[in-house]
Amino acid sequence: MKIVRDTILHGDVYACLCRLETGSVAVAATSPPYWKQRIYGFKGEIGQESTPEEYIGRLVKIFDKLKEKMRDDGVFFLNVGDKYFSRYGKSNLLQIPYRLAYHMTKRGWILEEVLCWFKVNYMPFPGRDRFANTFEPVFVFAKNRKNIYRKGLGTVLKIPLQQTPWKHTAVYPEKLIDELFSRVQFRDGDLVADVFGGTGTTAVCAQKVKMSLSPRNVCSVLIDKGDDFVEIMKKRTGITNVVKVKDVAFKWDPVVEELLPDGIPKARLMDKHGEVFIAEDSREFFAALKGVTTEEFKRFHREDATYFFGVKNWSLSDLYFPSRLFSIGYILRNMLIASHGKTWFPIFMFARDSKKVAYKFNLDRIRVKAKPQPLRNWWKEEFVGFKVADLLEKKKGRIIKILARYGDGFPKMAVVKWNGGVSLEFVLHPEKDELLMEGVEFLCKACGRPLNEPYDPIGKNVCSNCKKSVWHSLENVPVAKEPDEVAEVLKELERIDYQLGQVVQAGRFQTKTVSTSKFAELDRVNWGASPGARKLMLGEYFTKTRVYRIDQPSIAHYLTLLRKASGLNVKEVIESLPKNYHHTVGHWFRTDFGGSTPVPEDLTLLMNILSAKNGLLSLLKRTALKFQTVKAAIKGRNPGDFIETTEDNQLEAYLRNLYIPSSEYRKVIEKKAKQTQLF
Ligand SMILES: C[S@@+](CC[C@H](N)C(=O)[O-])C[C@H]1O[C@@H](n2cnc3c(N)ncnc32)[C@H](O)[C@@H]1O
Repeated sequence: MKIVRDTILHGDVYACLCRLETGSVAVAATSPPYWKQRIYGFKGEIGQESTPEEYIGRLVKIFDKLKEKMRDDGVFFLNVGDKYFSRYGKSNLLQIPYRLAYHMTKRGWILEEVLCWFKVNYMPFPGRDRFANTFEPVFVFAKNRKNIYRKGLGTVLKIPLQQTPWKHTAVYPEKLIDELFSRVQFRDGDLVADVFGGTGTTAVCAQKVKMSLSPRNVCSVLIDKGDDFVEIMKKRTGITNVVKVKDVAFKWDPVVEELLPDGIPKARLMDKHGEVFIAEDSREFFAALKGVTTEEFKRFHREDATYFFGVKNWSLSDLYFPSRLFSIGYILRNMLIASHGKTWFPIFMFARDSKKVAYKFNLDRIRVKAKPQPLRNWWKEEFVGFKVADLLEKKKGRIIKILARYGDGFPKMAVVKWNGGVSLEFVLHPEKDELLMEGVEFLCKACGRPLNEPYDPIGKNVCSNCKKSVWHSLENVPVAKEPDEVAEVLKELERIDYQLGQVVQAGRFQTKTVSTSKFAELDRVNWGASPGARKLMLGEYFTKTRVYRIDQPSIAHYLTLLRKASGLNVKEVIESLPKNYHHTVGHWFRTDFGGSTPVPEDLTLLMNILSAKNGLLSLLKRTALKFQTVKAAIKGRNPGDFIETTEDNQLEAYLRNLYIPSSEYRKVIEKKAKQTQLF
């Protein structure tokens, strides 16, 4: 069929493609249904194949047909998203787009460029053990080297997701297709095709080419099998010429994936906690990738190590072969994009496929925190009236009094009014909150020296100094030492008997104050006050969170020691807690990746049941207020898998911070603090 005016082909993609005239399509742009993402609900829909190999095999076959219909100098823009394959909690990134592209090049497509579409307004992601996904690739394929695509305009496209009125959830933004079309040398009479038309975005953008500064008289053909989509397309594009097409039987085979190619392995052995390695070229990258298969590599690294391998001058096979890590005992967690302005290179984050431990990924160290302006004069700022969101107990309050300030005027201690009481709160200074949160040190009970690491669920747990066992019984559990900053505040508080962070009745609060201390001011607090929400407009507020980041396995292990000492099994602990706890309690005692940490309220109950008084649990119970500014998502955003950098060593340090132990990270932030002379 020769297409001479805008047309919708209503039917199966393969059957519709068969109808097109050979060599007629100048430009194709499409986004197929992603694998196992959504159900469209018609016979023969794509995306529901039982394996990625079948899905890729089917698309490869369809795109073979498209190639036949492409003009010799035509280009094909293919946008496709990825998928995590989920098993016992640790999901593996399948690399579907790159596998598809790889197989397409094996069948004769020429890959001109891989564009990275960074979705500036990406969806928030609650996950804690990997970067949020923020981009999708757009492959630029051609039939021949000589074609109508203009290269060299940059491979990073920053384009927001677009809201649409259409009842279709997988619409690509017009801006994306406009950008792609701006890179094409159109001629009058060119045919533009979208073989998975959806809501017809591609045709809308083709219509814009007709009205651009250098207008070209192009026409489009849209294919879709969904009846509803055909209706949407008609409405949105104004296309009236709709042709119904009957199914055509066709066969496809699942693709067969390749093994890592032969080559001499070069095991990276720099740090047992993980590796960051940015290779210059494919050869170096492959040697390192091969290196992870060696016994030497596995023996050297901890089972909870985290790896980042990237490659600067990359080719498609560098994006393809990391998908094979899964078959050799690793899971791929992220393909990160390192972007230097207009171009990008990939960095793969992966870890051992272990059920025993969670790999190290301290997301909190890299969350995007909106930074307060450095030159604010805190003395002049009014903090009374600020909202406080308690992240752990999920409730809201307001600051009604500032009791003490840091040297620069930032509040250090505040009184917060909650529904049902008031509490005295320690406030983290925005410039040193990291230092405080990482600040708990574990000291060997026998020799008093700091330990390098907290409890190690897969290691020996001996003190590196005196070689005595630690963490083996309650007797040799290390002493947890708080940073001086907090210890000092606590000391002041000893003069009154309120626990920091504990919510009490306002009346009780008042009568217990000691008039000689700065808490005398408590007498003058207007307990009923509920000042206006002036600050809300600036998007500033406080959150109430834990003061310290303490490794979850350490807590779980400590709880287990306490539990055993009090002669209880997990079931008995569960039974002594209210019913709504039953699903969570088990996780508190797990040191593997399924573990979780009790919130302060739970800890109070637990400490009663396990008759634990002080020690680690009371540190874990400590809460503080943290300053949040300019609409930063609570706790700061997951920074996402698109990283803009200019310097390699900065990038490497950024990634390394995710897995180094607290003791080392403390040095990093202390050094940084000294450099900026904040203290
Ligand atoms: C991801 S959507 C395309 C969205 C489009 N890019 C837009 O902006 O609206 C994929 C489309 O493929 C269609 N589709 C799925 N299987 C198909 C098949 N076997 N033949 C034809 N169309 C199919 C679905 O109906 C869906 O509209």
